[in-house]
Amino acid sequence: MTNAITVRRATIGDAFRLGEIGGATFTETFGHMYPAEDLTEFLRGAHSPEAWSRRLQDPHVAAWLVEAADGAVAGYASAGPCKLPVPDLESNAGELFQLYVHRDFQGGQLGSRLLGTALAWLEAQGFDPLYIGVWSGNLGAQRLYGRFGFTRCGEYEFPVGAQRDHEFILRRA
Ligand SMILES: CC(C)(COP(=O)(O)OP(=O)(O)OC[C@H]1O[C@@H](n2cnc3c(N)ncnc32)[C@H](O)[C@@H]1OP(=O)(O)O)[C@@H](O)C(=O)NCCC(=O)NCCS
Repeated sequence: MTNAITVRRATIGDAFRLGEIGGATFTETFGHMYPAEDLTEFLRGAHSPEAWSRRLQDPHVAAWLVEAADGAVAGYASAGPCKLPVPDLESNAGELFQLYVHRDFQGGQLGSRLLGTALAWLEAQGFDPLYIGVWSGNLGAQRLYGRFGFTRCGEYEFPVGAQRDHEFILRRA
């Protein structure tokens, strides 16, 4: 099935599709952790077409869409300059902002493929070192990032509405 699926760089015209897959995958993965009003506030800020449109216009930011043969969007990733609260952050540090594969498509190496694509782009842009923020309870994703050479270097609080999630900061030099 993976062979019938393509990973492509998103363009400005993909803002709506990114908002849809971003909202759907965040909600199916983490939606149960938040009161409805916090989730709604977060989705409006992070996954509205306007928010994605702004991000896609930033020349230092890139996003990728995973598409199935029938046109369904199966996942996405985005990356760019690091925005994590790292003490003495290096001036050319990069970050994987998001990596999500829709539940129906997980476990088939798509996440690894998407992650490899995003990391190769970050490296080609000259970003170094690379960082990822990941929820402390997301052991599956932490295993995946560990296989790609990321190790824990810090922690912070990630806001979702009024709630604050305990996140780990991972780094690869
Ligand atoms: C993390 C994720 C992108 C991996 O995509 P995938 O196509 O399933 O990954 P692959 O098939 O390439 O690799 C499988 C690995 O992904 C991780 N993984 C699998 N299911 C997962 C899940 N539900 N949540 C988090 N990580 C998962 C594990 O490390 C797994 O390896 P393992 O079976 O040896 O433990 C995908 O599972 C996902 O979107 N999860 C929910 C959202 C998420 O946690 N995103 C990361 C936020 S920082």
